[in-house]
Amino acid sequence: MCGIVGFVGQEQAAPILLDGLRRLEYRGYDSAGIAVCGDGAIQVSKTRGRLQALSDLTHGGADLTGSLGIGHTRWATHGEPNDINAHPHLSRSGRIAVVHNGIIENYMELKLQLMEKGYTFRSETDTEVVAQLLDYYYAGCGDFFEALTCTINIVDGAYALGIICADYPDRIFATRKDAPLLLGYGKDGNYLASDVTALIRYTRDIVYMDDGELAILSDKGIRIYDRMLRPMDKEHHHIDWEIDAAEKGGFAHFMLKEIMEQPRAIREATAARIQDGRVVLSDLTMTPEQIRGIRKLYIVACGSSYHVGMVGKYNLEKLLRRNVEVCLASEFRYSDPVVGEGDLVIIISQSGETLDTMAALREAKKRGARILSIVNVVGSSIARESDDVLYTWAGPEIAVATTKAYSTQMAVLNLLGLYFGDVMGTTDYETYSNAVKGILALPEQMEKILAAHDQIRELAQMCVDHDDVFFIGRNLDYALSLEGSLKLKEISYIHSEAYPSGELKHGTISLIEEGTPVIALGTYAPLFDKAMSNVVEVQARGGQVLALTTESHAAAMSERVDAVIAIPDTEPMLLPQLGVVPLQMLAYYIALARGCDIDKPRNLAKSVTVE
Ligand code: G6P
Repeated sequence: MCGIVGFVGQEQAAPILLDGLRRLEYRGYDSAGIAVCGDGAIQVSKTRGRLQALSDLTHGGADLTGSLGIGHTRWATHGEPNDINAHPHLSRSGRIAVVHNGIIENYMELKLQLMEKGYTFRSETDTEVVAQLLDYYYAGCGDFFEALTCTINIVDGAYALGIICADYPDRIFATRKDAPLLLGYGKDGNYLASDVTALIRYTRDIVYMDDGELAILSDKGIRIYDRMLRPMDKEHHHIDWEIDAAEKGGFAHFMLKEIMEQPRAIREATAARIQDGRVVLSDLTMTPEQIRGIRKLYIVACGSSYHVGMVGKYNLEKLLRRNVEVCLASEFRYSDPVVGEGDLVIIISQSGETLDTMAALREAKKRGARILSIVNVVGSSIARESDDVLYTWAGPEIAVATTKAYSTQMAVLNLLGLYFGDVMGTTDYETYSNAVKGILALPEQMEKILAAHDQIRELAQMCVDHDDVFFIGRNLDYALSLEGSLKLKEISYIHSEAYPSGELKHGTISLIEEGTPVIALGTYAPLFDKAMSNVVEVQARGGQVLALTTESHAAAMSERVDAVIAIPDTEPMLLPQLGVVPLQMLAYYIALARGCDIDKPRNLAKSVTVE
């Protein structure tokens, strides 16, 4: 939530800040602003709306002069998205400007204390409290670094902060707690950002900040201090993502580009991890004894990553004959979870920064569980705090609605299941080797599905003008339907629910009326006949059924339903890997036909770093 950038160097800061914000816009896009320090004063420009509005307002940044500045793209938490609540926020002296990602939980108490001291507030944000606190302490001690440490000692909550002060016209101050922030070392200056995508055009030399650390950036270099304010050196990371990986590359939307990238992404996530027909997880440090000793498995995640966990539960329980509990991170963290030594908690996260997921990880770790994370963003907080990390290698994902990250998470989880099943001796040779062959065939099979996108575009018409769409399925098809339904609702704004088919008759079937679109998933062969019976039930109530099944069942399905999408046959455990592709495309084309803002759906953000 919210994107932060900062630049200090030889160039004009404003155009660099705007460019960085453009790449971070997926983190929040209801308002944006920049503050630039030049000629001993701070100039601020901010506005409600998309980044383009800010760019227009500042004539591409030309209106603000100075080679040091900070910028912000906002996802509103405190106060509606308007010009005043947009960041940066200025102190009452106008000489300190702050951008913030996160939530200051005790802001109301601090605000009241400051008001008693005569401070007035312009915005409804929690962030303005930080600007005024800095002002208050700085006025008292005359040392900005000291004022900053006093401020962070008194605020509770999560924050990544970028701060400038007109009295220090050559420095940017930065600190973080439970919100991502990284430092970039460039040739023509130094940078601050929430995410590497903002920086890859300028530098690939990155340092990730950790909680409690402070940094002071200048044209000459970056000084970093630990929580005890001792200067420290940190490990540098080289980012090798291609620049055009974060560009649309001729596609109308990032979402479509990322859907189309899935064959390549799956190949990258799996091919190097399969050698001579065996799964090789060289990045895993767990010993065979530790694997065999796993008492219970948990999968903890949010959103689509949680849906990967739902698929994973079916597959891992089959492969490992052990109980797998799948938990929403936001629930897990406050549930006093029965987790401890001997348990393995698998954390799934594209961004590696989701606050609830991070908190769940820490809770599980505190209770003695071992943490294995499946993460896309290299060096992210979740990756760094886990005992083991398996990266998904999907490359940057920009569209808010995840596609290739979901697929690659699932691919990695399947590989992990096979690897564990082999070590534990719970997966038979035939299942193992068929699955490995199946995984290697997935990219080509996905390409075949993607080539049929015109058919899906046509079928999308069945749903475009409806207010409700239901997804039904059993077993793996149910787990997959959760993701199909989420994709549809998040980008098309059509109300949608996913139900296990067998549960429909316990209430939800009352909502099916003449013409209600029902997407019936019937890819899972062992339950195909049951899926058919449920199709008949919804048809009897007037439901208009679009079915997803395998090529080998397409003919039987076509006899009953209004339309069929067929995916190539594969091993049962891999069906959701293929099945998700048409569901993503369906959501995409429905949203396109409804004229929605596909890459930046309303009210959402890609990286959710607030509770
Ligand atoms: C947001 C994104 C989803 C994502 C979820 C969890 O809601 O829009 O696509 O699945 O957060 O994010 P994570 O980065 O932890 O996978």
